Amino acid sequence: EELTIIRKFEHIEHCLKRNVQAHVSNGFEDVHFVHMSLPEIDKDEIDLSVEFLGRKFDYPIFIAGMTGGTKGSQLAGRINKTLAKAAQELNIPMGVGSQRAMIRKPETWESYYVRDVAPDVFLVGNLGAPQFSETIPERYGIEEALKAVETIQADALAIHMNPLQESVQPEGDTQYRGVLKALAELKAEFPYPIIAKETGAGVSKEVAVRLESIGIDAIDVGGLGGTSWSAVEYYRAKDEMGRNLALRFWDWGIKTAISVAEVRYSTELPIIATGGMRDGITMAKALAMGATFAGVALPLLKPAVKGDVEGVIKILRRYIEEIRNAMFLVGAKNVEELRRVPLVITGFTREWLEQRIDLREYLRSR
Ligand code: FNR
Repeated sequence: EELTIIRKFEHIEHCLKRNVQAHVSNGFEDVHFVHMSLPEIDKDEIDLSVEFLGRKFDYPIFIAGMTGGTKGSQLAGRINKTLAKAAQELNIPMGVGSQRAMIRKPETWESYYVRDVAPDVFLVGNLGAPQFSETIPERYGIEEALKAVETIQADALAIHMNPLQESVQPEGDTQYRGVLKALAELKAEFPYPIIAKETGAGVSKEVAVRLESIGIDAIDVGGLGGTSWSAVEYYRAKDEMGRNLALRFWDWGIKTAISVAEVRYSTELPIIATGGMRDGITMAKALAMGATFAGVALPLLKPAVKGDVEGVIKILRRYIEEIRNAMFLVGAKNVEELRRVPLVITGFTREWLEQRIDLREYLRSR
């Protein structure tokens, strides 16, 4: 019972105090813009807005879900409300962390509730894919999904896929049998958009095609190269065997840049590019590769824990100005044009993609 909630705090503490990032990059260093000496646009006319699931946003940045599950005004509630105020101010979307704690302990609902401070924000609820597995008797269904969204007046639901994290933790939920079918059934009845999101190991083209085939509305690739959940579990491990397993899988997964290309090439779904996005040039590359948003989690945690709304906004504005500058230097006055500028892909990312997709076709039609 208490375990889920305690676990949550350990995660936040490790994320704040230790190195929980992958030892490898997210792949965008292999993606290059071609500088344009005659941009033929004014920097001031650049429009960073994007459309997503029927809504318009001022900037192509998504605050990825992190937390929830404490009593009202405590840690998790403060983090979510701080992020929500920033998201409201900038008109960008945000997610909350896993609402499993809220399903078990309904009295924690306020820690996910941000409508009082962010009346207009596009808010995304969050439940875990393994909870929908046919293997568990008390599996989630439409009732829990509705509760997650409606209790906090969210606009959509994210279902997180995290087999890596679950597989390297002692109390992990490693039952994934029947999840795709359960999500198909949920999607058929559910009146809100569903975003399938990974949490640091990336989404392959094979998984993306399956998710699109059951009607999932968008994919957050949650790729390798940012926060590593094996790293978090490494610090939490209770014995040598656990530490070894988590360390071994620290850098497991599909890099964010690669995952964006695989999903863009194989589906029509809107993409959120999360996983190690730490500057606006990298974010502009993700948008050019076909993502609608760059998603960010870890860098916002530190100011959010302190309730520092201005601190969160400052980081996001830095990203925004860097994206804008990159767009100017490739002559793209909006995100749609950014998707048509030339890109050069080199190194590991190129070698991978050449074996997995028709790279030329992808670069032409992204
Ligand atoms: C997360 N993430 C996450 N994802 C999810 O779907 N449900 C959750 O409850 C959480 N919890 C959570 C807590 C903390 C402290 C962090 C840092 C992250 C994963 C997050 O949404 C994102 O996919 C990854 O962190 C990758 O992005 P960054 O951190 O590299 O920018």
